[in-house]
Amino acid sequence: MTDNPWSRRQFMRIGAGALAAGAAAKVTLLEPSNVLAAATQAQSGNTIRFASIGTGVRGCELLAASLRVPGVECVAVSDLWEGRLTAAQQTLKKQVATTRNYKEILDRKDIDAIIVACTDHQHRRVVVDACNAGKDVYCEKPLSHTVEDGFAILAAAQKNNRIMQVGSQRVSSILYEKARQIYASGKLGQVCCIEAYWDRNSASGAWVYPIPPGVNDQNIDWKEYLVGAPSIPFDPVQFFRWRCFTAYGEGLGGDLFVHLISGIMFITGTNTVPTRAQSTGGLYRWKDGRQFPDLIETFYDYPDFRVYMRCNLNNDGGEFIGFYGTEGTMIIRDSTLTFSPQNTAPEMEGYSTKGWPEDLRKQYEENWEKDHPPAAPFASKLTDEVEEYVPPKGYNDTVDHEANFFNAVRSRKPCVENEVFGNNAALGCHLANYSYFNKRPAMWDASAKKITG
Ligand SMILES: NC(=O)c1ccc[n+]([C@@H]2O[C@H](COP(=O)([O-])OP(=O)(O)OC[C@H]3O[C@@H](n4cnc5c(N)ncnc54)[C@H](O)[C@@H]3O)[C@@H](O)[C@H]2O)c1
Repeated sequence: MTDNPWSRRQFMRIGAGALAAGAAAKVTLLEPSNVLAAATQAQSGNTIRFASIGTGVRGCELLAASLRVPGVECVAVSDLWEGRLTAAQQTLKKQVATTRNYKEILDRKDIDAIIVACTDHQHRRVVVDACNAGKDVYCEKPLSHTVEDGFAILAAAQKNNRIMQVGSQRVSSILYEKARQIYASGKLGQVCCIEAYWDRNSASGAWVYPIPPGVNDQNIDWKEYLVGAPSIPFDPVQFFRWRCFTAYGEGLGGDLFVHLISGIMFITGTNTVPTRAQSTGGLYRWKDGRQFPDLIETFYDYPDFRVYMRCNLNNDGGEFIGFYGTEGTMIIRDSTLTFSPQNTAPEMEGYSTKGWPEDLRKQYEENWEKDHPPAAPFASKLTDEVEEYVPPKGYNDTVDHEANFFNAVRSRKPCVENEVFGNNAALGCHLANYSYFNKRPAMWDASAKKITG
């Protein structure tokens, strides 16, 4: 008997498990990052003039975010639908030069940087031309539409010594930075297993976007849109819902997996391509002529851990990444990060000794108690506390991501999510799709820069 009214085992269970789980988490409101402050300091007399090529949904979001970044000014926009050019100017609340022909923008010597927010199948063409014209480039995710596109972009950025950032904005998020610090601290122990999903349950989530009235092949440059894609008659569905079609997008891989992969790469400090991916899934509900599944599940082999990833357009499960370590569990669920320690206190064996003779069991238990003197009562309680982190209300990681890009344009120091990082993340998406469509594991051959399988 000890002085403690609870037995050691009860203490172990309650102290390290139930108390931690039952206690309210310690909630920390994260501080805004200092990237905007750095931009303010650096800007004096040094405004960066940029243009956006592609001013659809994301292009306009990026233009709106740019209004919050000090020391930058959008001076021109390009898009293939005239309605987008109007929307861009309305977003900027001013008139800027507009053109359907993005090459006119690249010819201008007074433009330092380009935001590329056009459809994925045009990323290669526009980014390579922009790099060759000496512009720094912020390219929306996924970097590439195909494996070959990614390496062509990488070569153009490196040959021209350009600053480049890819647009998975979570890489600049203060929430992901906190997760990165927790991971790097070793508090999770060894992490062998990571799980990530992004599930949505709405027409918009499944990319069934409304077609604006009055669109036709006069106010949309259809010929230009089809560069790099098979030639077909004008079809507004293939223009506005391009994510559903293999000629322009990569389905859930390029749309959502890439964010999850980029987040996992950033948090774990991994900058490589998975060696293998195995996918399954199917098209169960959104049978509207699309060429991609509405459910895809993929197992990835990374060198130090395995990842299970899923996107399901048939249930609103939200966005989730879980890191399961030997000493703790870290979860990002939408905009909340939690860390929960695992109970790793040594525990007397109580299961397998049930089949021992009583005297042997008693002897084992006495020896165990002798070898493991109890810790001070509740000593471990503090360290068992669940930690929760949330960003401040209205926090926008896209603003920080843009600020990081423009800061790099000034400092000429590479972005974290540069062309190599972005290419590795996009290759993860291509592996997932390859495996899904070919119904077999996709292997990454790094020396040949090819998917085999
Ligand atoms: N980071 C994010 O969270 C996020 C969110 C949405 C989209 N995106 C990415 O942003 C990009 C655009 O997506 P979106 O939702 O805005 O699509 P969208 O259909 O709303 O807009 C794409 C625009 O690109 C234009 N375009 C295509 N080729 C062009 C060219 N050669 N020159 C000029 N304009 C051209 C089209 O006219 C179209 O208006 C995609 O790469 C997408 O994956 C990123």
